[in-house]
Amino acid sequence: MAGRISQSFIDELLTRVDIVDIVDARVPLTRAGGGEFKARCPFHDEKTPSFTVSQRKQFYHCFGCGAHGTAIGFLMQYSHMDFPEAVENLAALAGVEVQRESGGRGVIGGGNGDGEAVKARQNLYDAIDEAGKFFRDMLRKHPQAGEAIDYLKGRGLSGQTVANFGIGYAPDGYDNLRSALGGTEEKKQCLITAGLLKKNESGKVYDRFRRRVMFPIVDYRGRVVAFGGRIIGDGKPKYLNSPETAVFSKGAELYGLHRARSKGALQKSRRCLVVEGYMDVVSLAEHGIPNAVATLGTATTDRHLARLFRVVDEVVFCFDGDRAGRAAAWKALQVCLPLLKDAQSASFLLLTGGDDPDTVVRKAGAGEMQKRIAAAKPLPAFLLQHLRESVDLNQLDGPARLAELARPLVARMGQEVLQQVVSDRLAALAGLSAVEMARSLGVGRRTLQRAGAGTVSPGAGTAPPDSGIAPAGAKLSPVARAISMLVQQPALAQLVPADADLRAAGTPGAELLAELVEALRERPKLGTAALVERYRGTANFPHLEKLASWDHLLPDKFEPEFRGILKKLLKTWPRRREIDRLLAKNSADGLSPAEKERLKTLMKAAGKDKAAAGA
Ligand code: CTP
Ligand code: MN
Repeated sequence: MAGRISQSFIDELLTRVDIVDIVDARVPLTRAGGGEFKARCPFHDEKTPSFTVSQRKQFYHCFGCGAHGTAIGFLMQYSHMDFPEAVENLAALAGVEVQRESGGRGVIGGGNGDGEAVKARQNLYDAIDEAGKFFRDMLRKHPQAGEAIDYLKGRGLSGQTVANFGIGYAPDGYDNLRSALGGTEEKKQCLITAGLLKKNESGKVYDRFRRRVMFPIVDYRGRVVAFGGRIIGDGKPKYLNSPETAVFSKGAELYGLHRARSKGALQKSRRCLVVEGYMDVVSLAEHGIPNAVATLGTATTDRHLARLFRVVDEVVFCFDGDRAGRAAAWKALQVCLPLLKDAQSASFLLLTGGDDPDTVVRKAGAGEMQKRIAAAKPLPAFLLQHLRESVDLNQLDGPARLAELARPLVARMGQEVLQQVVSDRLAALAGLSAVEMARSLGVGRRTLQRAGAGTVSPGAGTAPPDSGIAPAGAKLSPVARAISMLVQQPALAQLVPADADLRAAGTPGAELLAELVEALRERPKLGTAALVERYRGTANFPHLEKLASWDHLLPDKFEPEFRGILKKLLKTWPRRREIDRLLAKNSADGLSPAEKERLKTLMKAAGKDKAAAGA
């Protein structure tokens, strides 16, 4: 297996590509002077541009929504690529081969090659699998199982369907699972990690799922990774899910996907329904509609859809027609836009009157459901309807407003054809010529880059970036300010004396500052983007990303302040610490003559500095 992408390759790559080209190909930029470029932010809806790209820093930043990052980060956020894809893409653009570290470390299942970690993961899978068997057993054998069987029958499910989906029963009581499977301390711990057992404050371990019908959630490779449990009868919460674990992420899994695929249902129809509930999937299957999956009580993510579009050409979102359902559908539409490739499509079916797919097939039959699926609104129509409802076209600025709302959506579309269709229909709606509308939407400009954009697949985070990331008035500690200045102007590293011990101050952040300086000693040419990229995946990455674009309260010239902070770190603070230590020793058990002398010198130096600073 291929190894990790080497750090020095990423350093090098980021000097070969220009973030301005990368962004401009997707979001047309205008010059803002000083090596900066501007555009209306592609990550939020805005009228005046607050999205800036700095050529010098090779970094983008939106003052409106706080989105920020490097060229790699931009491809991940805008084009929904994952990290390796973004790197591959930039490498292709720069005409170089991606270099990886030798000694392939990739291990199936996402392990890091570390034997311990792989084993821990396997134990987790085993424990969850055993729990699945236990719940199925309980449905057959437990004295109270009658209530679960009656419940499932009452919802119109046959024994066959219940068995097909591996549905089980978690009986009432606090320790059914624990006493059956938590025999050893190790197993108990594993079930806690899996979220199937819980520990209360007094250390007592008990079953998470009690008196529930249990739906096993199976990952794309057919392993049970989590459960959804529905309460039998009334009670709250109606559905309870396993928490996120090392093997289960709600944003990645779709309920029923493995089954639908392994039965060939998706491949055969080339279409998949995305519904809201476990019961909808199971009930549709009961009624002969096997090509449905459900999100697990979360919004549809790009990972979900990328997974689906690898198997099918069409996704039909089938949501509740209430406010929440419509909002979920609109969100799903946005996630779809960059993912749709040629000949792929999405459509939307919003059920009204409190119906869901389960109630439709039970009341009106599979035929009725199929009819409604066939009549689902195609994505362009759904998009246009939504825009039309958000704008008053009778107002003078209606057409302009319409184009404005459409622009970021059109910009996200991965399909040229789709852009054209939407643009033409918007023109008709707004009473503009097709050419005018296309121009104001920027359609047609991106033909070249789209062809070069390669495959688009799951990426990190479609969610809009947190706002307030660039705290306009927030105070940074001196060390954070120094880090911020250094990542923005790496040449400042030359001001740090070669023998300086930045860590001596022991201040939070000193370690990071020292690391950055060391990296720059080794490779003085590293720019802002490359420095930040070195920390991707670490706890410091988000901080560094922010500091790289944090320029609200920094002076025009960094040098004087940077020198001042260096002095504090290298002299003032270590000295203060030493003084404190000697004073403490003095009052505890006295000082040696040499120590007394040292203290005197230190205090004198501190006094001098203070006087100088005060002058
Ligand atoms: N859900 C959840 N947690 C909740 C409620 C719902 O995770 N507290 C998720 C579950 O995946 C559930 C889906 O949202 O399957 C749909 O929930 P809901 O609309 O409440 O389902 P109903 O159709 O009302 O459920 P049922 O048909 O079982 O009564
Ligand atoms: Mn329902």
